[in-house]
Amino acid sequence: MTLPIVRTVADLRAQVSSWRAQGLKAALVPTMGALHDGHLTLVRRGRELADRVIATVFVNPTQFGPNEDFARYPRDEAGDAAKLAGAGCDLLFAPTVDVMYPAGFSTSIDVGPVTTRWEGAFRPGHFQGVATVVTKLLLQAGADTACFGEKDYQQLCTIRQLVRDLDIPVAIEGVPTVREADGLALSSRNAYLSAEQRQVAGQLNRVMRTTIDRLHAGGSVETILADGTAALLAADFTAVDYLALVDAATLEPLPTPAPGRLICTARLGAVRLLDNMAV
Ligand code: PAF
Repeated sequence: MTLPIVRTVADLRAQVSSWRAQGLKAALVPTMGALHDGHLTLVRRGRELADRVIATVFVNPTQFGPNEDFARYPRDEAGDAAKLAGAGCDLLFAPTVDVMYPAGFSTSIDVGPVTTRWEGAFRPGHFQGVATVVTKLLLQAGADTACFGEKDYQQLCTIRQLVRDLDIPVAIEGVPTVREADGLALSSRNAYLSAEQRQVAGQLNRVMRTTIDRLHAGGSVETILADGTAALLAADFTAVDYLALVDAATLEPLPTPAPGRLICTARLGAVRLLDNMAV
């Protein structure tokens, strides 16, 4: 089946309204394309939660910093559309930059404290860009549910917060991370890794699992995290931006071992690998 594609907000809304008139529920799966099985898992989850699934593909310029990979971010609309159709998606919304940010656009959404640490500290303005585009997509589609991967954990917390704060009538569904056989979380940016870097990348999962085992056993969080960071550097990661035990909702650091989330970003050359796991 060829996936229907709409490119304007009016066409998107007309389709969702006609589903609604038939009593059908819709799930939204926002993406930036370059789809992999992680994204298709979001579509399959959307299918379980609703009668119709809308995917969006929009490489959002406002969430990329000036020295980031916006221009070279992989784009393959035809390939993405075929994968989405195969996963049971019903509609693709693929707007242009002018549709999302017409001349005169000036609003930016700042979700506050949950966005300031971690990725927010390394990527100034990133979460304002994400929050603004996600708010637009949620309001444009008017879906009942929207699915986001737990892989970008801080993004998920940011979206939950903004939906709560702005009373957007949508249920946010966090979907567990899909991993390669060695535990590497699927990401469109894994395509940037060389063969050698890809070998090293699998060590992130191993080190994080060891760190979680040690946190469960108890002891000094500071020492355990310092040991984890040292293990990543010894495994040949170029740098560790952070390895932290945080509260699962606020993302504030937890000083003593307690249930929460272990979050990490480690670099291999220019590629930043993000991961997180429940503790
Ligand atoms: O996770 C992503 O792919 C993007 O940040 C999102 C949520 C589609 C917003 O552009």
